[in-house]
Amino acid sequence: MARTTTVTLQIIQHDAATDLHQPDQDLLEQARSAASRAYAPYSNFQVGAALRLADGRVVSGNNQENAAFPAGICAERTALHAAMSMDPHAVVTDMAIVVPQSKGERPVTPCGICRQVLAEQEQRQGVPVRLLLAGYDASVHEILRAGDLLPLSFDASFLTSGNS
Ligand code: THU
Repeated sequence: MARTTTVTLQIIQHDAATDLHQPDQDLLEQARSAASRAYAPYSNFQVGAALRLADGRVVSGNNQENAAFPAGICAERTALHAAMSMDPHAVVTDMAIVVPQSKGERPVTPCGICRQVLAEQEQRQGVPVRLLLAGYDASVHEILRAGDLLPLSFDASFLTSGNS
């Protein structure tokens, strides 16, 4: 006998950032601004991220590349690691991710490593991280739980569940 599991992903598509509440628009603007400070001389692909903590603080980051390519780090993790290194008890409620130059059909979505890190952050804090994704035009994609982008992800439970 076989059982089938279907995983669904909900994306809320806003035609214009101005449809969002002002704090969301502000977060997107901070991410857009962070992108302009990215260090991306190799890809010329500038990414900005800005996250909001439960207490209202905003932390931003951008991609930081290196001539040894794998040493580079994405905007999302730059922002998240900065926030969590400042305050290990911080709770991230929202993250805006903006690639101002991206004119694709949909805004850029986080890479696999960032999805893994965001998923663990949700488990760590017990609160979902809401994502706002934007590109060149005014449309914004909203994903209510970052972990939804990485179904069946690896997590700490596997490290302790009878593998010895
Ligand atoms: N990048 C990010 O910062 N975030 C993403 O979501 C996708 C990719 C960066 C990594 C690298 O510096 C450049 O974009 C091209 O892959």
